[in-house]
Amino acid sequence: MDGPPGERILVTGASGQIGADLVCELRSRYGRDNVVASDIREPEQDSPILDGPYRPLSVLDGDSMESTIEEEGIGTIYHLAAILSATGESDPELCHRVNVGGTVCVLEAARDFGLRVYAPSSIAVFGPDSPRIAPQVTPLNPTTMYGKTKVTGEILAMNYWKQYGVDVRGIRYPGLVSWKAPAGGGTTDYAVDIFRSAIEDGHYECFVREDTKLPMMYMDDAIRGTISLMEAPIENLGPSRAGYNLGGMSFTAGELADAISERVPGFTCDFAPDVRQEYADSWPDDVDDSTARDEWGWEPEYDLVKMVDEMLEMMRATQSS
Ligand code: NAD
Ligand code: SER
Repeated sequence: MDGPPGERILVTGASGQIGADLVCELRSRYGRDNVVASDIREPEQDSPILDGPYRPLSVLDGDSMESTIEEEGIGTIYHLAAILSATGESDPELCHRVNVGGTVCVLEAARDFGLRVYAPSSIAVFGPDSPRIAPQVTPLNPTTMYGKTKVTGEILAMNYWKQYGVDVRGIRYPGLVSWKAPAGGGTTDYAVDIFRSAIEDGHYECFVREDTKLPMMYMDDAIRGTISLMEAPIENLGPSRAGYNLGGMSFTAGELADAISERVPGFTCDFAPDVRQEYADSWPDDVDDSTARDEWGWEPEYDLVKMVDEMLEMMRATQSS
């Protein structure tokens, strides 16, 4: 193979929470027609990812993956397709098949065609034995199937980099908060759902305890971090390249509810933990992101106050438009 079939970008799992923001940002940077969105699930009719090229694609279908890469002239894959923690624990076989099988399919295609790959990891790689502020390098003993598939994803990515020279990069995203697309099937979804319920109903029943503290990040920071990592010189990246810790903010569910009630008069929140409490309890409170800061200059821009203000403003604006 002389090199990749082209320089265009393929985004898998683009109909999801991150895809809605990442596809828009990639198109504004590299050109609308140079970013091909794909998913196994038909996007909503008003989805921003339909403002440019879109192809239905399962990441488990190696033949379709190959033909998409050749026909669309792909040089880089942003591989977002996955099953998140809550859905993954209710269907662990599906979670393993999509998260591990899909990642192998993408990495194999990258090896065959000489592609670059972005494959996100998660704070779910950490288990209950992790220090509460998770270091970059520490034993990874997750208790959820989702977390186990994310550890496997990091190991696979490092193998393809070391054995075949595939340039794979990844971030252990914290829980992501955004307004363009709903969060789906995760444990940190409460931090997204609470905003819509506050505006529409003035009330939210939260599925984790008030004192549940997790690493979180506003989507704009996550997208900026993702693109910074993919644009970082390859020689700057060390052995954490497949799963950088990335800090944004860290708050309890109660602190988030308080920040919203200060801005939405009359808003109330009850806490009724369900099985997702267990998954949240197995994850750290915060992460040490000094490696990402040192190697490629990571710095978050959003704290809790700035995020809550922007979330409410954007959700109110989309609701009234
Ligand atoms: P999401 O659940 O919102 O979207 C995932 C998308 O993958 C969905 O649109 C789904 O239809 C698609 N998909 C599922 N099976 C597929 C298949 N076989 N082929 C093609 N597409 C398929 O998830 P997201 O929040 O956008 O997450 C994207 C990535 O980021 C995942 O790897 C996830 O583990 C990681 N991540 C997300 C968060 C977060 O808070 N959103 C945090 C940490 C890590
Ligand atoms: N936000 C994700 C989830 O809750 C963590 O990767 O599943």
